[in-house]
Amino acid sequence: MIVLGIETSCDETGIALYDSKSGILAEALYSQIKLHQQFGGVVPELASRDHIRKTLPLIREVMVQANCKAADIDGVAYTAGPGLAGALLVGASIGRAIGMTWNVPTLGVHHMEGHLLAPLLEADAPTFPFVALLVSGGHTQLVAVQGIGQYQVIGESLDDAAGEAFDKVAKLLGLEYPGGPQIARLAMQGTAARFKFPRPMTNRPGLDFSFSGLKTFVLTTVQEHRVDGLVDPQTKADIAHAFQEAVVATLSIKCKRALQQTAMKTLVIAGGVSANTRLREELGLMAAQQNARLYYPKLQYCTDNGAMIAYAGCQRLLAGQCDDLAFHARPRWSLETLPPLQAVPL
Ligand code: KG4
Ligand code: ZN
Repeated sequence: MIVLGIETSCDETGIALYDSKSGILAEALYSQIKLHQQFGGVVPELASRDHIRKTLPLIREVMVQANCKAADIDGVAYTAGPGLAGALLVGASIGRAIGMTWNVPTLGVHHMEGHLLAPLLEADAPTFPFVALLVSGGHTQLVAVQGIGQYQVIGESLDDAAGEAFDKVAKLLGLEYPGGPQIARLAMQGTAARFKFPRPMTNRPGLDFSFSGLKTFVLTTVQEHRVDGLVDPQTKADIAHAFQEAVVATLSIKCKRALQQTAMKTLVIAGGVSANTRLREELGLMAAQQNARLYYPKLQYCTDNGAMIAYAGCQRLLAGQCDDLAFHARPRWSLETLPPLQAVPL
C-alpha cells in the first residue's frame, strides 16, 4: 500500500510517500521558521496561510520524486490534531479533497501518534511493548505502549511542555525561535560548575512533569546577572548549560521510574526535543543501567515531518480504518481515545 502523508499541524509543511513494502519513497519538508522568527514564535494565521501556499506544490514534488501517478496511491493520511486549528484545516481539507478525487480512503492521524511511531521507520526498530517519552513543543508525555493504538498516558506535564520551556528560556537569553537547537548549541560553551537549577517534581513520587517553575528560576538568574541591562555571553552559556542539564536530568529520572513501574525494557523517545544530543546520551546511559534499550528516530524524523504521518496512517489504513463522512480537525485530542489497530472491521 502506498500512502501520501500530509503534516500541517504547526510551522512545518511535511509531505511524504510511504510504501508498506519498501518504506519511504519520497519526502519534502518546508519549514516556516524564517517567517515566524521575527515574531519570536509561531503566528497561527501566518502558519495557515503558508501551509495553503506550500502543501499542493510539495505534494506534486514528492509525486515527481517517487515517479508516482495518482493511480499508484492507495490512501491519504493527514494530521487531524492536535495542533493549530487553521493549520490543521489546511492539511485536512487538501487530504480529503485529494482522497475524494483519486477515489482512495483518507485518514486523520493523531500528530503525537505520528511522533510515537516514527522510531519504527528505522531499520533497527523497537518492538512492543515500550515506554515512550514524547517531548515536543506542545507535549511532554510518558506513555505505556502495548501496540498501535494501545496507549496509556502514565505521566505528563502539568504546565509547559519540554520544548516550550526550551523555546521560552531561549527567548529570555535573546536567542532566536525555535530555542531548543540554539540552547543546545550555546550549552556546549557553558561551564558545568557555575549554576545548578532545580529538577522539578523529582523529589516526590509520580511521573508528571512541571517546567514552568524552572523557567521562572532561569528568569530570576538572568535578572540577577544583568549588568547595565545585559548578560555577558559566558553567563548566558552557563545558564543554557544548567537549564539543559536540569531538563535532561528531570526527564531521565522520570523515564527511569516509568521503566521500573511498567517493568518494560524498551524506552522510545520522540518529538522535537528527542533531537537533543545530551538527552539521548543521558537516557542511553540510564537505560543501559536499567538493562533496557533506548530507541529514537533519525534527526529529520524527531521534529515534524510528513513521513511519520504517512507511516502511522498507513498502519491504520492497512487495518481497514478510514474517515467517515464527517470532517474532523481536532486541535485538542487525547492519545488515549485512539482505537487499537485491530478493532475496526474491514
Ligand atoms: O515535534 P516538534 O517539531 O513540533 C511539535 O510537535 O511541537 O518539536 C518542536 C520543539 C521545539 O520546542 C524545539 O525548540 C524543540 O522541539 N527542539 C529541541 C531540539 N530540536 C528541536 N529541543 C532541544 N534540543 C534540540 N536539539
Ligand atoms: Zn510535532
